[in-house]
Order: sequence, then C-alpha cells, then structure tokens
Amino acid sequence: MQLSSAIYKYLPWGAGSLATARWRWLARSSILAENSTMPNSVSNSAIIIRSLTTIEELEAVLRLEKEVWGFEDADVTPLTLAVAMKATGSIWLGAFKKDAMIGFAFAFPSLEEGKIGFHSHTLAVHPAFDNRGLGYQLKMAQRDRALARGIAEITWTFDPLRSRNAHLNFAKLGVISNSYRLDFYGAQTSSSLHTNGTDRLWVTWRLADSRVEERVKGRRRRSETLDALALLEPLVRFNGDGNPAEADLRQALSRQRIAIEIPGDIGQMESSDIGRARQWRLATRRAFTEALNAGFTVTEFCRSIRGQQGPGAYLLEKVNH
Ligand SMILES: CC(C)(COP(=O)(O)OP(=O)(O)OC[C@H]1O[C@@H](n2cnc3c(N)ncnc32)[C@H](O)[C@@H]1OP(=O)(O)O)[C@@H](O)C(=O)NCCC(=O)NCCS
Repeated sequence: MQLSSAIYKYLPWGAGSLATARWRWLARSSILAENSTMPNSVSNSAIIIRSLTTIEELEAVLRLEKEVWGFEDADVTPLTLAVAMKATGSIWLGAFKKDAMIGFAFAFPSLEEGKIGFHSHTLAVHPAFDNRGLGYQLKMAQRDRALARGIAEITWTFDPLRSRNAHLNFAKLGVISNSYRLDFYGAQTSSSLHTNGTDRLWVTWRLADSRVEERVKGRRRRSETLDALALLEPLVRFNGDGNPAEADLRQALSRQRIAIEIPGDIGQMESSDIGRARQWRLATRRAFTEALNAGFTVTEFCRSIRGQQGPGAYLLEKVNH
C-alpha cells in the first residue's frame, strides 16, 4: 500500500495544540498484542507496521525523528541520504495509526569486520504510544525482513543508562554486547537525549539463535537473572542516597559473573540533577569498559531489582562465543 501525498496534510506535526489534541485522540485505543509475530505486516486496532515506499513517508520519518530526539535541523538525517539508503537495501519500517506515523525503525546494510549484516541506526515510538509493545513489534518486523534477505545478525547501539532501552534490548529481544563506545556520536548533540554524553553499548542481535528464538516465543529469563544477580556484589551500585558506589575493580573482575546497576529513570535524573547523572555516566563507563576489556559479555538486564522505583542491573558473564 502506498500513501498518497494528499494524506499528509492530515498529519499532526507542526500544528501546535491541534497536534497535541490529535495525538491524545490517536493514543486512546489499544495498540499491539504483546509478543505477536508478524510475517509481513501487522494490524491490530488499526495499527499497521509495514515497509515504507515513498519520499513522503521518509519525510514523515524525519519529522518523527526530530520530535522524538528533539534535534535541531542540522542533526536530523538528510532526506537525500534517506532516499539513497532506501535505494541501496536499507530496511525502512513505519508504524501507522490511521494516517499518522507513530513509530519507525531504520536499518542499513553493514560490513563490519568483513561480515555482512544490518546496522539498525534508529528506532523510535512517539511518546504518546510508548510502553505498549510497539518498539518490540517494530524490531520483530525488522528481524523478519533481515532473515528474509538471508541476514542473521543485526547490530545497533543504545545508551546503557536508559533502563527502558536496556529492558527492551536484553530482556525482550535477547541481544548481547561485548563493546562499549565512548561518546559515540560526540560529547553532545542538539538532542535532549544526549545531554549526558553519547556513550553507547554496541549490541548484537543474533536473529536465529536459540537465545533469541526463546524471547520471540515470549520466554524471558527474569527469574534466572534475578537469582544470578542476588549472588553478586555489583561493580557499580546505588549507595542509598542515589549516587553510584564503585566496588573493588580487581576483585570483581576475577569472578565469572558481575553486575552493574543503573538508575530506573536516568532522564528524570538528568532533568533534576545533571551532576548526579554525570556521576552515573562516569562510574558505569569505567565499569563497562574494564569488564568488557577483561573478557566479560553483557548478557542480561533486569529492571527494578528492588521494587518499582529501584535500580535495574546488568548481568555480565565470561562466556564462550
Ligand atoms: C526505546 C523506544 C523505541 C521503546 O518503544 P516502546 O514502544 O515503548 O517499546 P516497548 O513497549 O516494546 O518496550 C518497552 C519496555 O520497557 C518497559 N519500561 C518502560 N519504562 C521502563 C524503565 N524505566 N525501566 C525499565 N523498563 C521500562 C516497558 O514496560 C516495556 O516492557 P514490557 O513490555 O516488558 O512491559 C521508545 O521509548 C523511544 O522511541 N525512545 C526514544 C528513542 C530511542 O531511545 N530509540 C532507541 C535507540 S535508537
């Protein structure tokens, strides 16, 4: 299905309070069934995830990119680049409710250390629709498209201090990570999500591995991960007043498993106390860097290990690949 450009006059962006009212109206009905699988496209309560085909649809992606990240124009993906990427094998997916794009996922072909795969550059869901499984469904659709093209691995990066992303990536999707990149996009960009630097965990999603297959079937490993975490003294942990406390590095790295805690809501902390958020960045940067250099792999993340508002924790293990 292609959307005619005439439809776009109804899209909400740029229409001020009318736009806000429209998002509230669109958000009212339920979205996707959690853990549903989608061979080609998914539709539920009028939400459809499908490949993007027109320049107008790519323009809608870039508007949503600007809105979700709060970018200035200079930091938004150029339309001409998006078009060229589309023409050369990238996967562009959009989630639509009625005529409005409410989420998207973009992955381009990659050649990393001689291995052909996809690198997923952006995934976004409009805040009016978050926490309803839409991010997960977009990733499932991306997985389907990659597998259909004979590609079994997708990589991407995310900010390891963002608990929601950590939960989505490790607990729901089953990624692993053995690489930490310091200020990957530079020390700061115009995005409101990048005020505390742009350190990233580089994750690998092995699409056909049993580990991923079991997550796709809805089996998560929360209780096993909690059991493992319960036995560990975290390398970085909450010290009671909300600041990070660091354990003895040498001792921790001599073990087979270690834990690294993070705040439950770093965005809120960045708004209320950027100094404290920065302390968390520096403590977790040191812990991840040292642990990954020592041969650990990040294998799991468990959110809210001490109740709803508490911290989450990563599990890192010495594993053979
Ligand atoms: C990351 C993003 C795509 C997730 O989209 P989404 O539709 O909310 O994702 P889902 O609903 O599939 O999964 C979110 C999960 O995190 C959980 N969650 C929400 N807040 C959380 C928190 N503070 N800590 C841990 N988990 C949290 C949700 O409950 C849900 O898990 P569940 O299904 O087990 O209950 C969306 O938040 C977004 O666009 N963020 C800004 C851009 C971004 O970070 N993109 C990704 C990197 S490029």
